[in-house]
Amino acid sequence: MARVLVTRKINPLAAEKLAGHDVWTWSENRTMPRALLLDRVGKADGALVMLTDRIDDEFLGFGADLRVVSQMAVGVDNVDLAACTRRGIPVGHTPDVLTETTADMAWALLGAAARRIPEGRDYVLGGHWGEWDPDLLLGNDLWGTTLGIVGMGRIGAAVARRARGFSMKVLYNSRTPKPDVEEEAGAVYAGLDDLLVQADHVVITAAYTSLTHHLINSAALDRMKPTATLVNIARGPLVDPQALYQALRSERIWAAALDVTEPEPIPADHPLLTLPNCLVIPHLGSASHGTRLAMATRAVENLLAGLDKRRVPWCANPDVYHP
Ligand code: GLV
Ligand code: GLV
Repeated sequence: MARVLVTRKINPLAAEKLAGHDVWTWSENRTMPRALLLDRVGKADGALVMLTDRIDDEFLGFGADLRVVSQMAVGVDNVDLAACTRRGIPVGHTPDVLTETTADMAWALLGAAARRIPEGRDYVLGGHWGEWDPDLLLGNDLWGTTLGIVGMGRIGAAVARRARGFSMKVLYNSRTPKPDVEEEAGAVYAGLDDLLVQADHVVITAAYTSLTHHLINSAALDRMKPTATLVNIARGPLVDPQALYQALRSERIWAAALDVTEPEPIPADHPLLTLPNCLVIPHLGSASHGTRLAMATRAVENLLAGLDKRRVPWCANPDVYHP
């Protein structure tokens, strides 16, 4: 019987697969306080963690008996993978199961911001809807335009596939060209600057690393079209929030829709939230009933493999197995 730390309540259908282990779950509806996290990991053989937990050298230092870290997310920028690898600890994550759900959200955000759905809702709720008005809340088309996708992993490819239904041309930028996506979705590789200049709308799906910090800064925003909508479905710090505020405020770009922000959560008095052309939602990319269950299930499978010293099936630091 292994000792398991779970840092947030997970779907009971997934949690029940941990039966037979000594499980301690943080049951409050907020991130585990750091001191408690460090204390608890000291009593754990395996940890099932969230993207809001910082898994760094300090955490690993407290986790003397830790055999596996299993994160219920695909992105692992909160985890020091190199430190885990040095200590021989595999890190599980949850790719694939959330890809399509997250791509759906990218399109929901793009449509909402480009076509001004939140403003329309506010207008109706505010009692302003008098007569039909031919000039009311005009937006910009998605159909027939060019979509630019920054970062071409699984989620980027799923976003690209959906562009077909909108008769859109797709440009993409990533570290390496992806011939399979070019074939499957008709996407065309472009340098980042060219992409920003040519795209009518831009969706960011890139992983966040030190190399992609503020990838979308004021110079990048300057290249975009004044009619362009920017969607960030990846990680907040890919976009410089001050630069974005300036670009939106001066209408150098049309709109932004952010599932993720810097910082996260975004304070309610943040300048971006004062702008009608900025739509912000609280990191809901993978937040469907089915997908969150699938993520929890996968996170549990990764955890159980690590506890049994089997190879973690969805491992974010596979080099841990080839030292
Ligand atoms: C969510 O942001 C994830 O990385 O799964
Ligand atoms: C990243 O891992 C992705 O799934 O796009």
